Amino acid sequence: MKMPSIRVFIITAMLSVLTPIAMVAQNVMPRPSQMEKKDGILRIDSSFTISVHGQQKLEALAERTLVRLQKLTGIPLSTKASKNPRTTLEMVCDKYDEKPQLFNTDESYMLAVTSEGAQLKAATRQGILRGIETFLQLVGRDASGFYVTSMNVNDSPRFQWRGLHIDACRHWMPVDVIKRNLDGMALVKMNVLHWHLSEDQGFRVESKRFPKLHEMGSDGNYYTQDQVREIVAYAAERGIRVVPEFDMPGHTSAWFVGYPEIASAPGPYQIVRKWGVFDASMDPTREETYKFLDDFIREMSKLFPDEYFHIGGDEVTGKHWDQNSAIQEFKRKNSIADNHALQAYFNKRILAILKKHGKKMIGWDEIFHPDLPKDIVVHSWRGQKYLAKSAEQGYQGILSAGFYLDHIKTAAFHYAVDPIDSTIGALSAEAQSKILGGEACMWAEYVSPENVDSRIWPRAAAIAERLWSRATVRDVDEMYRRLEIVSKHLETVGLTHRTSYAQMLERIAGSNDYAPLKVLCDVVEPVKNYDRGRTRPHTQFTPLNRLVDAARPESDAAREFNRLVDEYLTGKISNARMNTLNETLSLWKGNHARMESLLSGNFLMGDIDSLSRDLSDVAVIAAKLVEVLDSRTVLTDGQRTLYTKVLERAEKQRAALLLMIVPSVKKMYSVALQ
Ligand code: ACM
Repeated sequence: MKMPSIRVFIITAMLSVLTPIAMVAQNVMPRPSQMEKKDGILRIDSSFTISVHGQQKLEALAERTLVRLQKLTGIPLSTKASKNPRTTLEMVCDKYDEKPQLFNTDESYMLAVTSEGAQLKAATRQGILRGIETFLQLVGRDASGFYVTSMNVNDSPRFQWRGLHIDACRHWMPVDVIKRNLDGMALVKMNVLHWHLSEDQGFRVESKRFPKLHEMGSDGNYYTQDQVREIVAYAAERGIRVVPEFDMPGHTSAWFVGYPEIASAPGPYQIVRKWGVFDASMDPTREETYKFLDDFIREMSKLFPDEYFHIGGDEVTGKHWDQNSAIQEFKRKNSIADNHALQAYFNKRILAILKKHGKKMIGWDEIFHPDLPKDIVVHSWRGQKYLAKSAEQGYQGILSAGFYLDHIKTAAFHYAVDPIDSTIGALSAEAQSKILGGEACMWAEYVSPENVDSRIWPRAAAIAERLWSRATVRDVDEMYRRLEIVSKHLETVGLTHRTSYAQMLERIAGSNDYAPLKVLCDVVEPVKNYDRGRTRPHTQFTPLNRLVDAARPESDAAREFNRLVDEYLTGKISNARMNTLNETLSLWKGNHARMESLLSGNFLMGDIDSLSRDLSDVAVIAAKLVEVLDSRTVLTDGQRTLYTKVLERAEKQRAALLLMIVPSVKKMYSVALQ
């Protein structure tokens, strides 16, 4: 057989992003507020051009759009913005940029597509950016070529603050990781990068005023100021604000390696290599601390132009405060009742510094305290009730509780979380207006540059939709259908959430014939919440190169199997789907035998053997259960004893992995027992 040329292969791979059905309009994610389909289509061929009109200089944006369209279709296009008014896509934008972009910038746009051409209109460049993403997601194909369906789209976001938080401290995230994630964010209309830049485990920004911060606190892994400016500019071009977080007064060990004089306990300090909550904290009672932070914030305020500055403020244990007699004396003298009030005193001092440098304060929900004025933003992570409570008291807030991507929950789980959640109690209209939006959080204890994209994407797209689209957009099956499509789009802008999977599996297998390992990995998921830390000790130096690091947070194969089982058990399965169920079980039954040569003597898979065996054993049981249910016979005592034992064993985590098909097989088993 003649192999296809690499060019044909690449073009075919790109085409697969484009859905060959007429309903491409239904694929857009996040779902626009209004879409009205018209008759006719706009063909996309090599004559495609873009022109720009209005006050804005949008030529660079037009050219980037043409490059992306070329990549999507494989059609060579002229990538210069056209001067000719009769272009295929006309961008019209009348307002000059607000620099820096404000949190409440108008992002609405109108897109009108007819068979003659398309027009994208917005008051701001940010609106144009959001509209371009819709246009590119509307590109489909039919038997004759590429096209966009004629339609009118009128769209605007539900929430103004739609963020992704990336922890660059627990594991270092180089510039290219941040940039490609900014591209992914723009694709799903997210508009805030919350960049977590200091921690017990690393201080990640060059400071010229306090050079020992990055020199002694980062192992050499920090962003230079030029790199920060480059990323901030890259984000701004994509309509994304960059909010830096310098966590204080806790989570500060790495600051104190170079500057122990601002700590509450004498030190010496080292960069922390383990995960957890530590006692190191700034001394909130000494003027030197505020002098230091004033100088530091002055420097960082110039580097980060956004109006907001995140001060962290989470998980202050207070132990070092309790152990310091001068701090205790300060509390007594100033009638400070407890450590939370002492933290509020610290926050008030920091707020004054931030205001002096033209910044607004945002912090994790521990900063919420009646001593703080109403012009701070409370970032809820411990539970949605903190958001509701602070909003009722007049504080603005954003939600991350329920949006923690490192908890390895399903997209459906995150999709069900809403910053305005009536199930936790009715919020007044006034309180609702205080809720600015939310952020997906990517904490980096168990991610590396190699697999971080796969932990963020595509699940963050479901959160992006929750934050952009109307509250009534809630259909979970429909979300998963579009998530699969947007996931492929996300790879076209450089994310590696799909490609890294194959690369990691190949390395683990030690062979390019890793198909059986993929079969196994397709049906497992990493353990949830904070269980990973309980499976074996981890430090910053533990290689993240095991099956658990390759496995996706959500197994599509297991979800599909669960659907097949549900159809089967409710008697609604078609013959074709029944064949799929049988073929799937047969593949899994034989998989362990195929895994054996990969497992033997493989140091990266020491603990995978029993998991692999269980996949095959559970598939044998499922196939047997189908036989029993089909023939309406009963299980023998021997079968019951064996199946109970195997299923109990199979649902336990091994190698920090869960076999996600077990719950469905248990469902079949309980029906067979009736
Ligand atoms: C946090 O997760 N400690 C904000």
